[in-house]
Amino acid sequence: MLILITGTAGFIGFHAAKRFLSLGYAVIGLDSLNDYYEVSLKNARLNQLECYEKFEFYKVDIADYEALVDITKDKEITYILHLAAQAGVRYSLEMPRSYIRSNVLGHLNILELARNTPAIKHIVYASSSSVYGDKSKSAFKETDIVNSPASLYAATKISGEMIAESYSKLYGINQTGLRFFTVYGPWGRPDMAYYIFTDKIFNKEPIELFSPEKMTRDFTYIDDIIDVLPRVLESTPSNLHAIYNLGNSNPNTLMQLVEAVETACEASTQKVILKKQNGDVSYTHADINAAKRDFGFAPRVELKDGIKNFVNWYKNY
Ligand SMILES: NC(=O)c1ccc[n+]([C@@H]2O[C@H](COP(=O)([O-])OP(=O)(O)OC[C@H]3O[C@@H](n4cnc5c(N)ncnc54)[C@H](O)[C@@H]3O)[C@@H](O)[C@H]2O)c1
Repeated sequence: MLILITGTAGFIGFHAAKRFLSLGYAVIGLDSLNDYYEVSLKNARLNQLECYEKFEFYKVDIADYEALVDITKDKEITYILHLAAQAGVRYSLEMPRSYIRSNVLGHLNILELARNTPAIKHIVYASSSSVYGDKSKSAFKETDIVNSPASLYAATKISGEMIAESYSKLYGINQTGLRFFTVYGPWGRPDMAYYIFTDKIFNKEPIELFSPEKMTRDFTYIDDIIDVLPRVLESTPSNLHAIYNLGNSNPNTLMQLVEAVETACEASTQKVILKKQNGDVSYTHADINAAKRDFGFAPRVELKDGIKNFVNWYKNY
């Protein structure tokens, strides 16, 4: 079986490619290797995948449809795992066009590729908890109305889901959207709070906390996400297009994250308290009953253990 994985040099794409390769799948990896964060980290992830015989990598921008067709024309692709995106909420205030290019035009191109390649059985794509907007009711359910994005990033993720829905209806394409909730772990993203805090603590610099008394996140360990991906990919979504929350379903406050990082680093640092940033939401919490029911999704890793694994990786990297 051949899987096309987009965003393979990224955090989740790298872990996913590694898992599918170790299960014996052949993987074509695509990534533009953009410089939103250190390209050296993206290359280091790719180096880890190079030892697999069934891995092929292409540096390509998914917004370039001709290039996508060129790369894939002679390949017998069965599944697409579409993870490439311009991630990050705060950066969407600075670089709005890169979100439209990657997350809207890029997503459309992946769907066009599937539309023109009938052998593709299923597209699994990354959505985000950010689609739920800024609300603080208890767990967010897939059936909640999502029409109030707090950032352009969130707006592009809602758009991705809507475009996917239309392509399933129009062309009968099987698709599953996964709303990830703050995924963290080894080989993680340097723009995320746990990585920034670790950097600062080791460099003996103060950390900035934006409205910490109000911030709560459903931090989800990478392996818990990766463990369920093969079952999702090999499933057939009911009504062609299905959407699932994938989160830990056990939110922690920002201060609990800081404590976990300080404990794992065996050091503490000065904290600078600042106002909430534009585009940030205060609270996320996944209702995961649907993913439990359909895929046996069962997150196991607690924040303090996952952060310890991250800090161990960070020290060696
Ligand atoms: N990590 C999280 O907490 C989280 C939470 C919610 C949703 N997501 C979603 O999960 C997916 C993976 O996220 P991640 O954390 O691994 O992010 P990441 O930034 O580490 O990985 C994304 C990869 O996509 C690549 N990319 C971006 N635009 C591209 C383009 N136009 N063409 C080709 N490649 C392109 C980047 O170079 C990067 O390597 C994304 O869709 C993201 O929106 C992640």
